[in-house]
Amino acid sequence: MTQQVRNVRVLIGSLRKASFSRRLAVALGRLAPPALRLAELPLRPLSIYDQDDEASPPEPWRVFRHEVKAADALLFVTPEYNRSIPSVMKNAIDVGSRPRGHAAFAGKPSAVISCSPGVLGGVCANQHLRQSLMCMDVPVMAGPEVYLGGVDKVIDEEGGVGVDSTRELLTLFMQHFSEWVERNGRFAEP
Ligand code: FNR
Repeated sequence: MTQQVRNVRVLIGSLRKASFSRRLAVALGRLAPPALRLAELPLRPLSIYDQDDEASPPEPWRVFRHEVKAADALLFVTPEYNRSIPSVMKNAIDVGSRPRGHAAFAGKPSAVISCSPGVLGGVCANQHLRQSLMCMDVPVMAGPEVYLGGVDKVIDEEGGVGVDSTRELLTLFMQHFSEWVERNGRFAEP
């Protein structure tokens, strides 16, 4: 039996051009098993969430919600700002969580990974993000947990991972994620 290729949308909690989180996302795409195809879902177009706009949702919100619903799985790659998730990621969570009872994220098999140039690897952001996802019925992979410290030193601009143990950990993370997606995805029969 041939294995289905799953379409994974990647949400990155940084807008800056030289983002280490984006380097990590690229590295994960390179290390992922062939059953996962990763593509970034851009967060920059999303205006700040305003509940008044639900009467006539802005086009970027509609597109974002549609793209999330169309994904087979979601991968959240986040840095940490002030011991939590950056506002760009929180805004995406808020936009995707509504209308109430129809969260675009609901039921999507997901994984969270955090990074930082510092030693703690964004552990607080990672945990805060999981907390938000849980309340929307998102099946988030429990482990392996990866809080990648010193990210600026281990991943190059092309997403190459220069340290063997880090490359092995990220490869393991993506293998587990692939299995998680197959176990928890609500896919139509092929
Ligand atoms: C940070 N940074 C940071 N790092 C960390 O490990 N814990 C933290 O709480 C914070 N807080 C924080 C707040 C703000 C406003 C900024 C701008 C930065 C440092 C952060 O990890 C670093 O800038 C990363 O490079 C950001 O991720 P990207 O943009 O490289 O993906």
